[in-house]
Amino acid sequence: MCGIVGYIGDEQAAPILLNGLTKLEYRGYDSAGIAVFDGSEIRMEKVSGRLQRLKEATDNGKALPGMVGIGHTRWATHGCPSDTNAHPHFNKEHSIIVVHNGIIENFTKLKLHLENRGYQFVSETDTEVLAHLLDYYYKRTRNPLAALTKVMQKVEGSYALGILFRDHPDSIYSARKDSPLIVGQSERGNFIASDVPAILQYTREVFYMENEEIAVLTRDDIKFYNVDEEPVEKTATHIEWDVNAAEKGGYEHFLLKEIYEQPRAIRDTVNPRIKDGQIEIEELQMTDEEIKGIDKIMIVACGSAYHTGVMAKYVFEGMARVPVEVDLASEYRYRDPIFGRNTLVIVVSQSGETADSLAALRESQAHGQKVLGIVNVVGSSIAREADSVMYTWAGPEISVATTKAYSAQLAAFYLLALKFGRVRKTISDSDYEAYISDLQKLPEQMEEILKDRQPIQRFANRYLAAEHIFFIGRGIDYAISLEGSLKLKEISYIHSEAYAAGELKHGTISLIEDGTLVVAVATQEKLYPKTVSNIVEVKTRGAFVMALTNEDNKDIEKVSDFTFYIPKTNRYFAGSLAVLPLQLFAYYVSLGRGLDVDKPRNLAKSVTVE
Ligand code: G6P
Repeated sequence: MCGIVGYIGDEQAAPILLNGLTKLEYRGYDSAGIAVFDGSEIRMEKVSGRLQRLKEATDNGKALPGMVGIGHTRWATHGCPSDTNAHPHFNKEHSIIVVHNGIIENFTKLKLHLENRGYQFVSETDTEVLAHLLDYYYKRTRNPLAALTKVMQKVEGSYALGILFRDHPDSIYSARKDSPLIVGQSERGNFIASDVPAILQYTREVFYMENEEIAVLTRDDIKFYNVDEEPVEKTATHIEWDVNAAEKGGYEHFLLKEIYEQPRAIRDTVNPRIKDGQIEIEELQMTDEEIKGIDKIMIVACGSAYHTGVMAKYVFEGMARVPVEVDLASEYRYRDPIFGRNTLVIVVSQSGETADSLAALRESQAHGQKVLGIVNVVGSSIAREADSVMYTWAGPEISVATTKAYSAQLAAFYLLALKFGRVRKTISDSDYEAYISDLQKLPEQMEEILKDRQPIQRFANRYLAAEHIFFIGRGIDYAISLEGSLKLKEISYIHSEAYAAGELKHGTISLIEDGTLVVAVATQEKLYPKTVSNIVEVKTRGAFVMALTNEDNKDIEKVSDFTFYIPKTNRYFAGSLAVLPLQLFAYYVSLGRGLDVDKPRNLAKSVTVE
């Protein structure tokens, strides 16, 4: 959601900005722009639509010469996607240029204040107030840092900012609050960016900006300040992961590559945490006594991360006998939740920047609760603000629809539930051993499923024109259905719903007609006959049924039209295997419909606004 890149150094800025923005495309956007200082003037180009249009409009950056610049991809919030609403935004004289990620919540009030003082607005965006407000204070102080801190004190909401002042051609000013921003340092110049992949090609030395911090970049130096203009000391983090991790590596799409990286993601998340047959999660920072004392777990997340929470409820309650509540972060933050005497709050997030999840974390901490973050992006806001963080080692995930981070989150939950079950003595020693062995077998079993993706592709090709697809299952199979349905919706734009199979008859079954595709997930032995009954119910109404089950349930073929078998594991981990064919199904439907698999319309990878 909105991407920012800035560069100041020895090279031409525009190609670096365009390249960086390309690496941030995964965040989702609908317009783009860059501004470059050519020595005397700041020149700008901005267009609605894809980055390719911006590249064409600037002759791949050659049309905007200069070694200082800022760029932006915009995901529209205030004002439709258009050339005018695209960033950068500027003051009347084009002497102050701003790119912004976030939302200025009090922009209406600020706009009125500025209009009363003669400022005229050309766009519908909230960002434009920043350009005029900076102008207002700069004209009074003649000091960019003072003007910026004044603006930071006036605005409410979230921001990551890149700013050029024509009077200060040797500097880029930037600041952040609640929207991600990093600063990169290299021999050939310095950078700002929304995320590491944008600049990884140029540097691995990165500073993570904290809330209400300011960075002033020159060609050879980076200075950090707080909102009182006092200098702040920061240390750089060395990024370990390889640039190839953020490239397609021969796959047609990032999504497919990331689906295939799932066995590796599980190994990396699980193996280092199993020592001598015992689960050790040092990051948890909880004694056995504290684990025993937990009377409730609250899991809070958005999107697919929320679905891992739905699954974790079954796993935790089954293995560790702790009551679990699962909430959508956007609901939790306003519902005034009731905490137990010893509640553990777990916030799950791939990006670590999702605004609602971050707010939920802060809301919990404000009530004195300890928060454990399950996070993929190292150094992200949720990782830094949580009381303890358990990283999922899925590596950088680029495709908007999550796959490998989702699977790694499930694996993290399995580890936690097993650990809790062991400490609380709710699972026997022999079960504990068997579960650990099953967990370590999962990557191999995933590889087995991924070996032959053709049956799923062929099946998907029959459903390219479907208007509605339903996913049904019970228990853990319901949790998986939620994710299968979301994947399909996200990238194929086909309407889809996931239903607890037993609930269908209370309304949704009226939507089933001749030929409606129903995907039935049936991995849970105990619930298997119940799900079969629900399959028969929809078959009777003309549905075409694809069943997803394991080899023990071969007789499901009698009631379904197409059956896909997954290898056998225990009831808790079956979801990790069942999700793979569902991800591949969504992928091939999207591909067959000729859609942009990695960058679906209207969606953003990292949702940094409420
Ligand atoms: C966006 C992404 C989803 C993701 C959700 C939560 O909607 O497109 O794939 O599940 O945000 O993101 P998070 O980074 O917090 O896991």
